[in-house]
Amino acid sequence: MKEFHLSKLCFIRKMRVLVQQINTTKSLLLIASTLILVTIILYHHHHHHLPPFPLSSDGNSSRCNIFLGEWIWNPDATYYTNTTCNLIRNQQNCMKYGRPDTDFLKWRWKPNDCELRILDPLEFLKLVRGKSMAFVGDSVGRNQMQSLLCLLSKVEKPVNVSYTTDKQRYKRWRYPSYNFTVANFWTPFLVRAEQAEADAPIATALFNLYLDEYDVKWTSHIDEFDYIIISAGHWFYHPTMFYENGKLVGCLYCSSVNSTLQVSYGYGKAFQTAFKAINSSPKFKGTTYLRTISPSHFENGLWNKGANCPRKKPFNSSSEIKLDDGASSLYNAQVEEFKVAEEEGKKNGKRFRLLDTTHAALLRPDGHPNSYGHWPEEKNVTFYNDCVHWCLPGPIDSWNDLLLEMLRMDHN
Ligand SMILES: *[C@@H]1O[C@H](CO)[C@@H](O)[C@H](O)[C@H]1NC(C)=O
Ligand SMILES: *[C@@H]1O[C@H](CO)[C@@H](O)[C@H](O)[C@H]1NC(C)=O
Ligand SMILES: *[C@@H]1O[C@H](CO)[C@@H](O)[C@H](O)[C@H]1NC(C)=O
Ligand SMILES: *[C@@H]1O[C@H](CO)[C@@H](O)[C@H](O)[C@H]1NC(C)=O
Ligand SMILES: *[C@@H]1O[C@H](CO)[C@@H](O)[C@H](O)[C@H]1NC(C)=O
Ligand SMILES: *[C@@H]1O[C@H](CO)[C@@H](O)[C@H](O)[C@H]1NC(C)=O
Ligand SMILES: *[C@@H]1O[C@H](CO)[C@@H](O)[C@H](O)[C@H]1NC(C)=O
Repeated sequence: MKEFHLSKLCFIRKMRVLVQQINTTKSLLLIASTLILVTIILYHHHHHHLPPFPLSSDGNSSRCNIFLGEWIWNPDATYYTNTTCNLIRNQQNCMKYGRPDTDFLKWRWKPNDCELRILDPLEFLKLVRGKSMAFVGDSVGRNQMQSLLCLLSKVEKPVNVSYTTDKQRYKRWRYPSYNFTVANFWTPFLVRAEQAEADAPIATALFNLYLDEYDVKWTSHIDEFDYIIISAGHWFYHPTMFYENGKLVGCLYCSSVNSTLQVSYGYGKAFQTAFKAINSSPKFKGTTYLRTISPSHFENGLWNKGANCPRKKPFNSSSEIKLDDGASSLYNAQVEEFKVAEEEGKKNGKRFRLLDTTHAALLRPDGHPNSYGHWPEEKNVTFYNDCVHWCLPGPIDSWNDLLLEMLRMDHN
């Protein structure tokens, strides 16, 4: 942008000199047409920085896939702090709990073959004027929603329009000037689920999953929204009993049932059922974004046995890190279900888009709260280092840059 303005100014100055020297109508006409030509060239030059349109539903085009790239140094960051945005949850307010390093705030996502713009909150709000957006999934989905609210807070602070008293799981915000509503539905398994033993500690509890049954706490609200951003993740690693058609069909990490199933089995089926709920909603005519799995970055042990994520900078390329087999199989299972749902949606005017943030997230082992999601003195309670959620501000903000890019694509 800066270059563009400078070169335009230079050009105008040159033109003035020329106008003083030559004064016939013919020359003025020539200058006028040159000006138009240069304007067109400058316009084109400027627009070459943008991802070329049209992107396909998976963010790819013949020239650029916005989800393949690397993190590059960006001293201009950050775009909000815990004082300009009061919506940061304590557990993700890493600066509050004394995270000493700040370099992790200063990177931006650079697709290999084009530029990704940093989210412009005014542009975002204008695009979604009169619309409503739901984040459906677990606490990492809520993490992205809170990042979005913080990024938008520069332009407007949202009003709490929640109609339940459950502050954390079902929350609604409204931007009065833009009549834009954002909601959060907490449904970590996407389908109906229940904890099998009520008094077990949640981190290691056994769950019953009804893989073909809707979680009506969110599915009954589908038609209230224009955009649904759906995701799921680490909850599927709990020990689980899987039910289909009301019958126990297998289990995960258990010995009491004959059939042991893979994590990816339950994960794929849950997405299948969630997409079915969306595709069979008669009124919903909006866009569903599958935000792909967010890998965790536990190192030095098991997550519940002192593992941590102490790195202070991104991996510089995928040659330094690969998605592990477990996460890969979940990624493949969800993308497979996405493709089926996308085809089904085409038949009745429902759009599906892949918000494929997995690769970008994988390269950011430095972006998690680690031990900075609470005070060290609270150690009385068992705290695990958090290498799953993302500090705010932090790399998760880029997911919303990518979301805006996808929103733009459907607006063009
Ligand atoms: C993106 O699209 C191009 C051409 O449309 C194709 O050649 C390429 O394989 C695609 N890349 C990915 C990662 O899907
Ligand atoms: C914000 O972070 C600073 C450290 O950068 C900390 O001292 C302060 O308590 C935090 N404020 C809030 C409201 O979280
Ligand atoms: C706000 O947007 C909703 C659709 O989301 C629409 O039904 C309603 O009329 C709008 N209200 C105003 C005041 O524009
Ligand atoms: C938002 O409003 C709901 C319903 O009035 C209320 O129960 C909840 O505590 C409010 N949340 C916040 C953060 O103020
Ligand atoms: C468990 O598997 C064995 C061997 O395949 C089979 O004989 C048995 O009927 C199975 N039990 C149940 C409860 O499915
Ligand atoms: C990644 O960065 C390290 C230094 O931090 C460097 O040695 C290495 O060559 C880089 N790898 C690539 C693929 O750029
Ligand atoms: C710490 O744990 C002890 C024993 O379980 C308990 O009595 C005490 O109240 C706890 N302290 C805090 C601050 O939670």
